[in-house]
Amino acid sequence: MHAAQRLMIMALAGVLSLLAASVCFGVGIPDQITINSIQKYYGPVSFNHAAHINTLKDCGLCHHHTTGAQVADPNCARCHKNSGAQAVVSCKGCHLAEPFTPEALKQQRDQQPPIYHRDKPGLKAAYHIGCMGCHQKMSVPTGCQDCHLRNDSGDSLFKAGKYAPKTPAKPKPAHH
Ligand code: HEC
Ligand code: HEC
Ligand code: HEC
Ligand code: HEC
Ligand code: HEC
Repeated sequence: MHAAQRLMIMALAGVLSLLAASVCFGVGIPDQITINSIQKYYGPVSFNHAAHINTLKDCGLCHHHTTGAQVADPNCARCHKNSGAQAVVSCKGCHLAEPFTPEALKQQRDQQPPIYHRDKPGLKAAYHIGCMGCHQKMSVPTGCQDCHLRNDSGDSLFKAGKYAPKTPAKPKPAHH
């Protein structure tokens, strides 16, 4: 998308947010997203999309070129400088929750047309590399429970909370 188009969209978004009582960046751009498609050991992640957009401004930091903004990563820009918006924008629409099933690997290998990418990370990795990579760089929270609280199955797996081992019995005094 060209800079001018982007400006127009941002201006439009501004007008919309004035019109709508709720903070709103534009049609179809959610303010608050509950990310919960693979949750198993952790609770859902409450992601403040609007606050991130406010702070970071650039859609291409997270969405590659799929929203029509220029992809931020120079490595991707080598080939995607002129790529336009994609039909699918949500991470889970492209990154598979189960990337290593035989079917997924076969699909990746045999995709038609045979495009360049055969090493797309799975959904959990896409979220973690995306979220945590930037949080590390910008020195904002990266603790596991800063983004999601561990749930009961997580506590059970990690032997925490009510599953934590009992304090070990005092060792018997040594005999001489
Ligand atoms: C900056 C935010 C962020 C941080 C920090 C973070 N995660 Fe996540 N994590 C996510 C998101 C987003 C998902 C995807 C959740 C979904 O779709 O259900 C996720 C998913 C997961 C999943 C798979 C879903 C599940 O509940 O089993 C596990 C396991 C996980 N994270 C573990 C961790 C651990 C361990 C840490 C700390 C080392 C951590 N995460 C730190 C954002 C984060
Ligand atoms: C900090 C990272 C980040 C930034 C910056 C960001 N987004 Fe997002 N956006 C996300 C995540 C994460 C989701 C949730 C995707 C999912 O559910 O898999 C999302 C969801 C969306 C969706 C909904 C997609 C769907 O089909 O459910 C749209 C539309 C969108 N973003 C547009 C934008 C636009 C336009 C901008 C720039 C003005 C932007 N985003 C900036 C991370 C970001
Ligand atoms: C060597 C060239 C090259 C590089 C580097 C490259 N791509 Fe691509 N990419 C392609 C080609 C070719 C296609 C298929 C044609 C198209 O859709 O533009 C494609 C398609 C895509 C698509 C749309 C297809 C789909 O999965 O639905 C996305 C998204 C994408 N690339 C993301 C990236 C990201 C993210 C990076 C950087 C990590 C990257 N690309 C780096 C060549 C490249
Ligand atoms: C239209 C399809 C598509 C959508 C939507 C998409 N991705 Fe990707 N993504 C790709 C492709 C293709 C690659 C592979 C690039 C390569 O081969 O290195 C990729 C690579 C990545 C990578 C690894 C490379 C890097 O940039 O560090 C991360 C992390 C990532 N995506 C996160 C996300 C997140 C987070 C979202 C949602 C906000 C998202 N992706 C949405 C297609 C997509
Ligand atoms: C490109 C950089 C970047 C990416 C990618 C990113 N964040 Fe953040 N995040 C930030 C910054 C900067 C702040 C501090 C925001 C502020 O103080 O306004 C933040 C703050 C947060 C906070 C704490 C406060 C709040 O506003 O909610 C949470 C939780 C969070 N991010 C979750 C996530 C999750 C989940 C993802 C991935 C889906 C993600 N972030 C991706 C830069 C990023």
